[in-house]
Amino acid sequence: ARYIALIPAAGVGARMGATSPKQYLQLGGKPMLRHTLDAFVSSPLISHTYVVVSADDPIIDSIIPAQGVTVLRHGGASRMDSVRNGLLALHGILHEDDWVLVHDAARPGLDAELIERLIVETGEHPAGGLLALPVVDTVKRCVADEVATVARDGLWLAQTPQMFRYHLLYRALDAATDPSMITDDASAVEALGLAPKLVEGHPRNLKVTLPADILIAEMYLAAYAP
Ligand code: C5P
Repeated sequence: ARYIALIPAAGVGARMGATSPKQYLQLGGKPMLRHTLDAFVSSPLISHTYVVVSADDPIIDSIIPAQGVTVLRHGGASRMDSVRNGLLALHGILHEDDWVLVHDAARPGLDAELIERLIVETGEHPAGGLLALPVVDTVKRCVADEVATVARDGLWLAQTPQMFRYHLLYRALDAATDPSMITDDASAVEALGLAPKLVEGHPRNLKVTLPADILIAEMYLAAYAP
C-alpha cells in the first residue's frame, strides 16, 4: 500500500478577514500552502500529493512545486465536501488499501518528521490514526450562562494529518449525513463505531485561523527551518 497526501485547500478563510484566501497569505516570504505542500514533497514516505482547490482558483498553478503534486479542481461547499470530492476524483487511481493522509492547507508547520511519526505509530491500525495534542489548559463549557469545568483528563486537540485506508475514509464520509458535525475526517470514522489512534503531534503544527496565528506560524517556521 502507498501513502498519499490529500490537502483540502478550497476554503475562503472568513475568520482571517483578509482579501485573498488564507492559504495564499505569505509566511516568511512563501505562500502558506506552499509550506504545506513542501512538507509532503520532502517526505520520502509519501508517493504523491493531491491538493483540492475551487474550480476557479487563479493562484494554485503558480505556486505548486515542480514535482509530486497534482491539482484537483473539485472544491466543495464544506471541508468535508472538498475531501469527499477529492476522494471521488481519485477513484480508480488509488487502491482500496492505499493510506490517505488528509491535511489542512492551513497547517503550514508540518514537516517530514511529524509525517513519519504519524505513519510509523499508526502502523496497521484498523481505524487509522491522527496527530493530536493533549489539552494543557483548563476547559470551560458555557451554555446559556451556565458555566462548568470539563475534566481535562483524556482530552486532546485534533490536528492533521489524519490517515485512513482509502476505502474506509470513503465509506465514512459517504455515510456522514450532517457535514456541519464533521469538522475533521476522524469524526466521520468514529461515527462508524471505530476508534482511530491518537499520535502526539507538535504545537508547531498549529492551524492558522486568526490573524494572530500568522505571527506564531512564522516564528515556528523560522525556528525549524531546514
Ligand atoms: O476554515 P478551516 O481552517 O477550518 O479549513 C480547514 C481546511 O479545509 C483548510 O485547508 C480549507 O482550505 C479547507 N476547506 C476546503 N473547502 C471548504 C472549506 C474549507 O477545502 N469548503
